[in-house]
Amino acid sequence: MKTPQQLFDLRGRHALVTGAGSGLGRAFALQLAAAGSTVTLAGRRLQPLEDTAASIRDAGGVAHVTCLDVRESGSVDAAFAGLAAPLDILVNNAGVAADAMLLQLDEKDWDLVFDANLKGAWLVARAAARQMIEAERGGSIINIASVLGSAVQKGTGPYASAKAGLIHLTHAMALEWARYQIRVNAIAPGYYHTDMAAGYLDSASGQAMVKRIPQRRLGAPPELGGALLLLASEASSYMTGSVITVDGGLSLAVI
Ligand SMILES: NC(=O)c1ccc[n+]([C@@H]2O[C@H](COP(=O)([O-])OP(=O)(O)OC[C@H]3O[C@@H](n4cnc5c(N)ncnc54)[C@H](OP(=O)(O)O)[C@@H]3O)[C@@H](O)[C@H]2O)c1
Repeated sequence: MKTPQQLFDLRGRHALVTGAGSGLGRAFALQLAAAGSTVTLAGRRLQPLEDTAASIRDAGGVAHVTCLDVRESGSVDAAFAGLAAPLDILVNNAGVAADAMLLQLDEKDWDLVFDANLKGAWLVARAAARQMIEAERGGSIINIASVLGSAVQKGTGPYASAKAGLIHLTHAMALEWARYQIRVNAIAPGYYHTDMAAGYLDSASGQAMVKRIPQRRLGAPPELGGALLLLASEASSYMTGSVITVDGGLSLAVI
C-alpha cells in the first residue's frame, strides 16, 4: 500500500494548465508544481504566464510557457506540437463570463462564452487525449466547471449553460476515454475573488450573496488544491466522471 505522500506525489509528471496567468489557474499551476509536476502554462497573454512561471521557478519548480487561444483548433494544435514532453495531466481552466440578462444578451457574447468555456475545453482535451493515447500512458483531465453548472443565477444564462455543458462533456469524455486509462473529472468551484468574479463580488448583490454562503466567506484559490491534487494524482485512480464541489456550502442553500 502506498503512503499518503506517494499517493499524491506528482514528480515525473507533466501538467498543462490553461488560463494559468491569473486567478484560479495560477493557483492550480503553483500547486501542481509544488507537488513535483513540470507545468506548462497556457493562455493568450504572454506576460501573466511568464509571471506565474517565474514564481514556480523561484520555488524550485520547472515551468514552460505557451500562448494559445482555446477557441481555435489551429492554435491549440500548434501549442501541443511544441510541448516539451507528453502530458500526464490537463487542467482545462480557461474561461470567460458575460454578465447580461438573456433578453439583452448579444449573440457575440453568447458565442464568446460558449467557445471559451465549452468548445475550448473540448478542443484542448481532445488534443491532450490524442497525445496521451499515442504515448500509451493514460492521464488525468480536470475540467473547471462551476456551481452555476447545476444552479442558475440571474444574469449568468450563457455562462451557467456552458458550465452545465462542461459537466456533461466531462461525463461523455470519461465514458469514451476510460479504455485508454484517461480519467476525466471536474471541479465545481463556488465563489473566489479573481479578475473574472471581482465585478460581481464587489457589488451590493455580490456582498449579499457572500452572506448566504454557509461558511460566510469567499473561497481562497489555494483551497481548491485538495480537490486538484486528488484528481491529478494516483489518489483518485478509480475516479472518473466525478464532479467535486468546493463552495463553502453555497449550493446546499435553497435561497
Ligand atoms: N472565480 C470564481 O469565483 C470562479 C467560480 C467558478 C468557476 N470559475 C472558473 O474558473 C476558471 C478560471 O477563472 P478565474 O476566476 O481564475 O478568472 P480569470 O482570472 O479571469 O482567469 C481566466 C483565465 O482564462 C484565460 N482565458 C480566457 N479566455 C481564453 C482563451 N480564449 N484562450 C486561452 N485562455 C483564455 C485568461 O487568460 P488570457 O486572457 O491571457 O487568455 C485567464 O488567465 C474559469 O473557467 C471560471 O469559469 C471561477
